[in-house]
Amino acid sequence: MSEPISRRDFMKASVYFVGGIVGAAVGIPAVGYLIEPALGGGGKEAWIPIGKMEDMPEIGKPYPFSFTRVQVNGWERTATSKGGFVIRKSENPEDILILDSRCTHLGCTVNWKEDERVFLCPCHDASFDAEGAVIDGPPPRPLDRHAEFRVTEDGILEIFYSEA
Ligand code: FES
Repeated sequence: MSEPISRRDFMKASVYFVGGIVGAAVGIPAVGYLIEPALGGGGKEAWIPIGKMEDMPEIGKPYPFSFTRVQVNGWERTATSKGGFVIRKSENPEDILILDSRCTHLGCTVNWKEDERVFLCPCHDASFDAEGAVIDGPPPRPLDRHAEFRVTEDGILEIFYSEA
């Protein structure tokens, strides 16, 4: 036979019940916030807008661009600057060459030297031609190319970025 519950026990049980609901409402999002970085997050691939085609009118001229990617590794966030050059090869907006500005030797950033029409790497004096081919210095291969790109309806050039 069950015993009748006292008013005092009923009040205690009610307080525990309500306290449990409040604790779950506050605690679950807090725990989610704390463990979310360890579960992944931070996309590794994305379409990155790098400029308007109308701002890059000259054929053969390298137009620099840059963007920042944030990598999430657990609770650690690392921002990395990326960049390159867009070179139109004709009036056709699809006929473009997009070079990465990272030197293929040890990763320094190359700069365009207009009077010589070469990309120069300041770290070990390498030079690349306007197509990114090595002219001189220690780089083992041409500048990397962003082969996957698209032009949106608004005329924005985007590259597909994928972390290696
Ligand atoms: S990093 Fe560019 S030549 Fe060495």
